[in-house]
Amino acid sequence: MTDINIDALLSEGRTYPPPPEFAAGANAGPGFYDRDPDEFWTEQGRERVSWFTPFETLREWNPPYAKWYLGGTLNACYNCVDRHVEAGNGDRIAFHWEGEPVGDRRDISYADLQREVVRFASTLKQLGVRKGTAVAIYMGMVPELPVAMLACARLGAPHTVVFGGFSADSLSGRMNDMGCEVLITQDESWRRGRPVPLKQTADQALAAAPGVRSCLVVRRTGGEVSMVDGRDVWYHEASADVPDDPASCPCEVMDAEDLLFLMYTSGTTARPKGIVHTTGGYLVGVSTTHHYIFDIKPDTVYWCAADIGWITGHSYIVYGPLCNGTTSVLYEGTPDFPDRDRWWDIVARYGVTVLYTAPTAIRTHMKWGPEYAQRHDLSSLRLLGSVGEPINPEAWIWYRKYIGGDRTPVVDTWWQTETGMVLISPLPGLTTLKPGSATRPLPGIDAAVLDERGNEVPPGAGGYLVLRTPWPAMLRGIFGDPERYEQTYWSKYPGRYFVGDGARVDEDGDFWLLGRIDDVMNVSGHRISTIEVESALVDHPSVAEAAVCGRSDAQTGQAIVAYVTLKGGEEGSPTRLAELREHVAGKIGKLAMPANIVFTPELPKTRSGKIMRRLLRDVAENRSLGDTTTLADPAVVEEIRSRATAEA
Ligand code: PRX
Repeated sequence: MTDINIDALLSEGRTYPPPPEFAAGANAGPGFYDRDPDEFWTEQGRERVSWFTPFETLREWNPPYAKWYLGGTLNACYNCVDRHVEAGNGDRIAFHWEGEPVGDRRDISYADLQREVVRFASTLKQLGVRKGTAVAIYMGMVPELPVAMLACARLGAPHTVVFGGFSADSLSGRMNDMGCEVLITQDESWRRGRPVPLKQTADQALAAAPGVRSCLVVRRTGGEVSMVDGRDVWYHEASADVPDDPASCPCEVMDAEDLLFLMYTSGTTARPKGIVHTTGGYLVGVSTTHHYIFDIKPDTVYWCAADIGWITGHSYIVYGPLCNGTTSVLYEGTPDFPDRDRWWDIVARYGVTVLYTAPTAIRTHMKWGPEYAQRHDLSSLRLLGSVGEPINPEAWIWYRKYIGGDRTPVVDTWWQTETGMVLISPLPGLTTLKPGSATRPLPGIDAAVLDERGNEVPPGAGGYLVLRTPWPAMLRGIFGDPERYEQTYWSKYPGRYFVGDGARVDEDGDFWLLGRIDDVMNVSGHRISTIEVESALVDHPSVAEAAVCGRSDAQTGQAIVAYVTLKGGEEGSPTRLAELREHVAGKIGKLAMPANIVFTPELPKTRSGKIMRRLLRDVAENRSLGDTTTLADPAVVEEIRSRATAEA
């Protein structure tokens, strides 16, 4: 890092125009931004997706409800699998699957994928899964995960994938909210050489989700698990005699607006929201953005190193790439197992041309140093992508220099679970890049930055990011809660979608994302609500009160800080601290564990009794405290500050 003078580079405002050889052959070429948006999305709708019945109307917009590709019928699984085989591309690799144990790998062609999906779908059918049956999936990064999702899509059964790091409570909460009847899981998954007991956690979740009648279990590690008679079924047994020819299990005809999946995400209350994504607009949106942003060619070897349990994996490991017939890498493990060069070994071995990951991962590699990447030939890479949180210019430049060989464009893609698809991003053959900026909204995306009163702010000034027109993969609502949908996204500026991020636009019209402005934290690119963690803490019998906020962290972007008042005047101790962290892990998942817990006899409150989170954030960030005169007892802050300092 010492050979890059970041400050000089930033103050000189260095920019990176597209490399000429890239620009010459890019999927998005000159004139791309000049297209009429409706014409563009009509064309993409026709070209990127195969319809059983063509759509009649591009869009219907009754704010805040949008519909896309009305009248069209299709099947997402057909588009991602069958049609590629029918077109003679069955031999093309869909996934180079790389298991965590070294040497445990498998190439899956589109024809293989079709056979596996058909077998999986028929097995689900035997368990009574039909069009409309809600299915939960709780798995690691094994090939059966995308297979299970596609099998659901084939049958018209909406799925919800719950990230394997979530707790039993989180899993049962989601299954109950969606009304799931079937759960698909696996015995265990691998993580840094150790088994993670997914089925055991699923058992606890099932005990609290009486609506789930069947549990289909994929064998991965071969570890011991308990199976409940009449409820649990081994996939390898149930699928043994099931045919795998596509005619035996045809793709269900779905309306463009039929539910494809729910993805739960944290909002500003304790209850995660089930974000609704439907079939037609979502598929067109993710395949179009994938094609243009990652400049996908028939010989591209693409690797999105996210987990399928998050929206990034849904849109840019499963639905977008497969719809485009892309060859991808699917990796089960972590970047440092068995050593810190695992990723680079994978890139070199498969000749990966496009790599898409999160700033937190880039910063981790940065911390380890470039020598791990330098052990391998990374010259196949032609494009790098970033997602999940603002990327600091240092990380952007390191990524380009050490991973991209100082040649490759880096596309910083901004989007959300709710947007379904990337909305603000460079196009690698067109855009002059600026480290730290997601640059411009894609064609037809009308993004703006507003002040409190709803006026657009001048260039350079910060404000609230909004979207003023609908886009194809836009969420269609929050499952079962239209009021929350309207309140969360559409009430601050009626008729405009309120993103929840701060942003500014510079003189050139480039967007700079500034992070969340609500009670949502972003830890390693994962969204966690402060209230969710607070509820988990006060659920512990010893906790009287808790307040949670995020603080900056050099590696994870933000880290969670909790201020806790214990019952009966208890002072707190290292044992209690460890216990509370475990308690949060048990309630939500390890990803929500506070990095710091400050025990305090009181929390700062306004005279009306509201906890002053802003102050706690300032303490956490070690900032000056500003105006505390509305506090009921200003001394509380000093007390907390001294405890926080002592703890640090
Ligand atoms: O704050 C923004 C941040 O991540 C939030 C969305 O989180 P989630 O729904 O979990 O989806 C993450 C993957 C799409 C946004 O509100 N975010 C995402 N991408 C970026 C980003 N912030 C800055 N720059 C980005 N490229």
